[in-house]
Amino acid sequence: MMKGSISKRLALMFALSVMLITAISATLLRCSLKTSLEEQMQNELILRHSVLDPVLAKYDSPAFWIGLREKLDGLTPTDERVRYWVLVDNPAYSYGGGMPDGQDWSKRPDGFFSMAIPERDRPMVLQVKTIPAMGNRPELRFIVGLDSTPFMKTLDHFTKTLILTSALGVVLVALLGYWIARFGLGPVRRLSRQANSLPPGDSKQRLDTEALPDELQELAVSFNGALARQEAAWCQLEGFNANVAHELRTPLTNLIGQTQVALAHGRDVAELQDLLQSNLEELERMGTIVNDMLFLAGAESGQRATELSDVSLYEEASKTVEYLEPVLLDKHLNVTIEGDMCVRIDRRLFHRSLANLLHNAARYAVPGSTITVNLVSHGMQVEVSVSNAGEPIDDVHLQRLFERFYRADVARARSDAHHGLGLSIVRAIASMHGGRVFAHSKDGFNTFGFSLISQAAR
Ligand SMILES: Nc1ncnc2c1ncn2[C@@H]1O[C@H](COP(=O)(O)OP(=O)(O)OP(=O)(O)O)[C@@H](O)[C@H]1O
Ligand SMILES: [Mg+2]
Repeated sequence: MMKGSISKRLALMFALSVMLITAISATLLRCSLKTSLEEQMQNELILRHSVLDPVLAKYDSPAFWIGLREKLDGLTPTDERVRYWVLVDNPAYSYGGGMPDGQDWSKRPDGFFSMAIPERDRPMVLQVKTIPAMGNRPELRFIVGLDSTPFMKTLDHFTKTLILTSALGVVLVALLGYWIARFGLGPVRRLSRQANSLPPGDSKQRLDTEALPDELQELAVSFNGALARQEAAWCQLEGFNANVAHELRTPLTNLIGQTQVALAHGRDVAELQDLLQSNLEELERMGTIVNDMLFLAGAESGQRATELSDVSLYEEASKTVEYLEPVLLDKHLNVTIEGDMCVRIDRRLFHRSLANLLHNAARYAVPGSTITVNLVSHGMQVEVSVSNAGEPIDDVHLQRLFERFYRADVARARSDAHHGLGLSIVRAIASMHGGRVFAHSKDGFNTFGFSLISQAAR
């Protein structure tokens, strides 16, 4: 995980990039200067050879050689920056004495060399040339040497200046980079101040995305999206609390009212039994709501179906239909089951889910019509749907019927024992099996269903 200040990180990255670039360009510059200094030294050697070689070539007797030695002495500066050697077996023609490094240079081929001199830090650059024999004079090896110290000092000075300016450049870029990054990140700070100043109680507040740069627009829009989702969840929670209170208030009011009346007036045993019976029904109603709420809370916290067994869906659906026979007979409704498959699911939950759908279908179906239970398999996923002939359901309601306490026909629903939890329990059971729910209303038929994933597929 990356931590720390973005400005500092950017400044460091700028500085590292500049360091890399200057290191490369400084190395290239130094190489180029070194090459040109070497060329300069070689040119100087070539120049001296071009003047002296013809002179040496034409001196062919030891007598002339004395004059030549004086000439070479005169050409050698006192600091011995430039030196000359004539190497030959016959001492009458030699000059300069032995080579300072003690090596035998007379056998070297013609060309440029570098010779380390013990008492000097820098080497001497040499050009060796052969002067052919002439008359009595044998073949000579004529060497001109040039001290590389001044050239190398120039190179050292240049290198030092380069390092110093590069280091200064890196520091400047780091400081400037830090400032630029801080300046560039100004909108982020403003955004954070804006987010911090959002009042805690007002879920409708959003960040102002207008004045933000493009890069931050997306972040602010996502943040506003998160706020909108929070608001929706908050509204749902508030609505949910109100609904729970509302659902419990009616049975509680009934219980309190009836008990107060019974206490105020003397009642005989039969009347009290009736009262207790009625109270029991209210208490059972409240118990159902509380149990349903607990079941939904468990499913919402990620509970999965655990009591799994291999079942034939057709057989299980038949059992559910059989169990609901009294309700169906009441409205002269027929039920047909289509399809069959063997799956590994929680049998008890499947019954509960299908019973909820069939209860609804029985309630809303056209009397005397046929309800169809459809069992369709898509690999390891099965779809269970219940269709009944009934009044079309508006799309606005259809999207929301699986929400807790949501009822399309509020007036009618509130008046009876239905709380609007049946479909949310169907949805919870589907999600406990890795499935989902669906609903559609067309051609005079309303279909509600859920999918389940057989255990083996998960
Ligand atoms: N087959 C259907 N035809 C028409 N409307 C339906 C059908 N099934 C459900 N609905 C609508 O969906 C709403 C929610 O159904 P749900 O089963 O969740 O609650 P309920 O049946 O009202 O109460 P509960 O199931 O808790 O007794 C119902 O109130 C009804 O308006
Ligand atoms: Mg229902």
